Amino acid sequence: MKAEVMSTSAQLQASLRAALSSDVVLTQPDEMMRFCRDWHGDVASGAIAVLRPRSTAEVAAAVLICRELKLSIVPQGGNTGLVLGGVPDQPATQVVLSLERMTAIRNIDAEDFSAVVEAGCILSEVKDAVAEKDMYFPLALGAQGSCRIGGNVSTNAGGINVLRYGMTRELVLGLEVVLPDGSIFNGLSTLRKDNRGVDLKQIFIGAEGTLGIITAVSIKLMPFPDQVATALLGLNSLDDAITLYRRARRDCCDLMSAFEFMPPLAFVLAREAIPDLAMPIAGDYPAYVLMEISGSGLVDIADLMERFLGGVMEDGLVVDGVIAASQAQARNLWLFREGMNEGQAKRGQHMRTDISVPLSRLADFVRDAEQAVSEALPDCTSVSYGHVGDGNVHLNVLPPAGSSPAEIAAKIYEAKTVVNRVLDDYHGSISAEHGIGRLKRADFEERLDPSHRALLSALKQAIDPSMVMNPGCQLNFVGIS
Ligand code: FAD
Ligand code: LAC
Ligand code: ZN
Repeated sequence: MKAEVMSTSAQLQASLRAALSSDVVLTQPDEMMRFCRDWHGDVASGAIAVLRPRSTAEVAAAVLICRELKLSIVPQGGNTGLVLGGVPDQPATQVVLSLERMTAIRNIDAEDFSAVVEAGCILSEVKDAVAEKDMYFPLALGAQGSCRIGGNVSTNAGGINVLRYGMTRELVLGLEVVLPDGSIFNGLSTLRKDNRGVDLKQIFIGAEGTLGIITAVSIKLMPFPDQVATALLGLNSLDDAITLYRRARRDCCDLMSAFEFMPPLAFVLAREAIPDLAMPIAGDYPAYVLMEISGSGLVDIADLMERFLGGVMEDGLVVDGVIAASQAQARNLWLFREGMNEGQAKRGQHMRTDISVPLSRLADFVRDAEQAVSEALPDCTSVSYGHVGDGNVHLNVLPPAGSSPAEIAAKIYEAKTVVNRVLDDYHGSISAEHGIGRLKRADFEERLDPSHRALLSALKQAIDPSMVMNPGCQLNFVGIS
């Protein structure tokens, strides 16, 4: 145990309760359980306590008492992260600090195209609140009904609208952060342009809780896109999908807001999770694209989609397609994309990746990696899908039904090794959008350039010399001081 004076869990819990108001501190195992396991249910752990502060001042007080007790802090938002960054792994020395009670929308300023929200706001609630003022916050992902804005910023989340609006980083104007010494970094500016030296907020974006606790975020807003055209298209191959993407960027004047690739298995998986989903397209095709064009004001989005599809179908690039005739139909199309994650989860533990390579090499990469997996693991099933316009693909590998836990673990390890070997040949990234967390730490460290490691270590040492914040996440910093 880390503490100089050995304390029992009960003593530590009593000290936390004495320092913080008692309803901030959860210590019962059944109350703590949902904070201590991951979204898929692959991993379950424990913690000394779960702290649920209601204000920035309470977060700062929690940091100070944890430092004093030599407890480290695992910050948590909606706990939808896919790489175990927000799940504790050292139950005897860690607390989870959940932002779930910091849900105030501090301000929405439609005239300045900005808003200030607390870190615990659920993403879909932020989107709904700004929509009431005819504004739009474009970050969009399958977990948006559960993930929280502080988690989105801490992971620099991607999602389906990146190709038009960028990653979360592009949408953040300012941050308020409680630092590991309990002080507060007040950077909640809403200025669009501000070149007064180093942009300090950037170091907390994507830091996965290793440098401080984000308590509030100022975000960029856009005019609400009141015209949206959604289409599901059947194609002959992933290569054709990428050709289509390039053409859509030119023909649709950068009004394309989503371009998601799905293989035929996506529809099977989605219907395993949501059995009454109506199939939207009659024939079977080797590849599908779910595409969205959107805009506000004077453009005619429906006409643009029809003319675009008319052209690409005439050229044979798209074989078949449906355009949603209503919001309900569009939602139905998106349920296939969202449901396929749940379908994979229902099949049990599997190997998930979040890879990026240059767009021009994506189709070759998928072909090579799937081929390598089928040679090494002929009884497993590969499923490659995602935000291919960003050069990002989730190439997942599902072990066969009926495998024992030991067989599953061995197959997952083998699949990851095989896919990463191909990825390294392509000089790609093992994490396009989900982060490193605890799950990818070893793979990250193995590939880390020494100069990159030295800078990361210097940053950690400067901001968190006591190693209070999220130890074990991203890098093993032990021994750097
Ligand atoms: P958590 O899981 O709670 O935490 C994630 C990390 O951030 C942890 O390291 C945690 O310690 C840290 N953290 C959380 N809050 C704070 C804070 N306030 N201050 C400091 N550190 C903090 N991700 C994508 O990028 N694109 C997708 O398309 C996508 N789709 C998904 C679909 C599904 C069905 C699911 C389950 C997940 C998906 N994700 C996706 C992953 C996940 O939703 C994102 O990473 C999301 O941004 C995590 O937010 P969260 O609030 O759940 O964070
Ligand atoms: C998605 C998650 C897995 O794109 O990132 O569905
Ligand atoms: Zn994704």
